[in-house]
Order: sequence, then C-alpha cells, then structure tokens
Amino acid sequence: MSTTLSPILSVERLRVKYDLFEAVFDVSFEVWPGEAVCLLGSNGAGKTTSLRAILGALPIAGGRVCFLGDDTSGKSPGAMTMRGMIYVPEGRELFPSLTVLENLELGAITREARARTRASLELACELFPILAERRMQLAGTLSGGQQQMLAIARGLMGLPRLLMLDEPSLGLAPVVVEQVYAALGRIVRSGTPIILVEQHVHQALELCQRGYVLEGGRTVQQGSTAELAGSDRLRSAYLGVN
Ligand SMILES: Nc1ncnc2c1ncn2[C@@H]1O[C@H](COP(=O)(O)OP(=O)(O)O)[C@@H](O)[C@H]1O
Ligand SMILES: [Mg+2]
Repeated sequence: MSTTLSPILSVERLRVKYDLFEAVFDVSFEVWPGEAVCLLGSNGAGKTTSLRAILGALPIAGGRVCFLGDDTSGKSPGAMTMRGMIYVPEGRELFPSLTVLENLELGAITREARARTRASLELACELFPILAERRMQLAGTLSGGQQQMLAIARGLMGLPRLLMLDEPSLGLAPVVVEQVYAALGRIVRSGTPIILVEQHVHQALELCQRGYVLEGGRTVQQGSTAELAGSDRLRSAYLGVN
C-alpha cells in the first residue's frame, strides 16, 4: 500500500479585500509535511495580508484555503491556532508587561501543549539560551532580537503543525539575524513545517526548500529555492544582481 501524502496547507486563488481595494487577488501556494516554504516579494506585495486571511484574521473574498485537509472558511484565528496554525506576526505582539516565562507559558494554548509545557520550555531555552537567562525579565525590556526570539519560542510552545513567520529578521542587526536563522534551521530540521515571509531573500532561500514570489497581490513565480536563486527575475528584483 502506498502512503498518500496531502498538503498541510493549500491556498488556491486567494482573494482578500480591504473595503474596495483588492490587496490580494490571485495567490496560490502549498506547504507539504516537513517543508519550509518562503513567500518573497517587495513591500506591499500582499504577503502579510495573505497570511492574516489564511489565519482567519481577515475575511476571504474568494478562493479556497485548506489546512490539514479541512476548508478553513469562516474559522476564527483562535480556532485556527487551536488546530496548530501558529502565526508569529510582524511586530511580534508580545505581552510587554509580563515576564519572558509568562509569555512563553501563554503560548501553550491547547490542552496537549499545556501538558507538554516543561519539555517545550526546555526546547525553547536550548534554542535561545538568552531566554533562559532572562526568564524573569519583562518582555518589554528585551532588545528587538530577544523579543523576536521570544515570539518564535512562544510560537513553538503551542506545538505548531504549521509555523507562519512574518519577517522575523525585520529591524535586527546582521549578527542577530544569524542567530535567529540558526534556530529556524533547527526548527525546520526537527520537521516542523514553516511558511516564512522575508525581505532578506538570501536567508530565506538558504533556509527553505521551496518558495513563491508575490507581486501586486498575485503569485508570479514558484519553484525550488535553488531554481529561484538562479532566476533572472528574482536576481534582478531582489538580490541586487543584474
Ligand atoms: N489595513 C489595511 N487597509 C488598507 N490597505 C491595506 C491594509 N493593510 C495593507 N494594505 C495594503 O494592502 C497591500 C498589501 O499589503 P501587505 O499585505 O501588508 O504587503 P506585504 O506584507 O507584502 O508588504 C498594500 O498595498 C497595502 O498598502
Ligand atoms: Mg508584510
């Protein structure tokens, strides 16, 4: 008997509007088990809008989103998160006046995740030792890089079946970006599927197996990251190579 694999997430011809403005009108992509997939594209291409609609935080005006085999239409972000779709937003959205440890504990949202809090905390502190050192410090007093690490670690506390990361390197110093990406590499190798939105195209292409390029609310290109890295269009648009 052959094993039939199905995608963790499939997005078909997604359309999302802000009032009359159609920010996303033809975005399609898939994530398969164990895959790291990047969504690339310049500012305003529709990456964040797509992720927020997939999570249920914005209404879908057209197309179809399936997560773990189920159509997600009409589901709330809370329901999607409980199913294991964990979104680490741009800007992180931590609880600044709670401690690092409290923020982490709040990431364990399902009963299963709560039962595994201890093991998840150990993993988080192994990936990001600075969080263990700072566990009693208020999240709002951490540096930008430490806050990003905390946001990712808090996401892991929810035992993601799909981890969606929106610009995890935004505003971070190069050395911190490297630390964050080293941890992301370990997360990917552990088998957690991820979707990565990133303007640091080099890092994204190195981390992920496949990628999609969005432009003006549409998917305009897709392929293995090796193919994308060699594509003239991507090279001239995003990698500064002519
Ligand atoms: N809350 C909003 N209301 C109206 N337009 C928005 C809103 N958020 C984003 N947009 C517009 O939607 C488009 C896509 O934005 P966004 O998804 O944030 O792009 P990206 O994440 O790729 O930079 C842009 O033209 C942006 O100006
Ligand atoms: Mg964005």
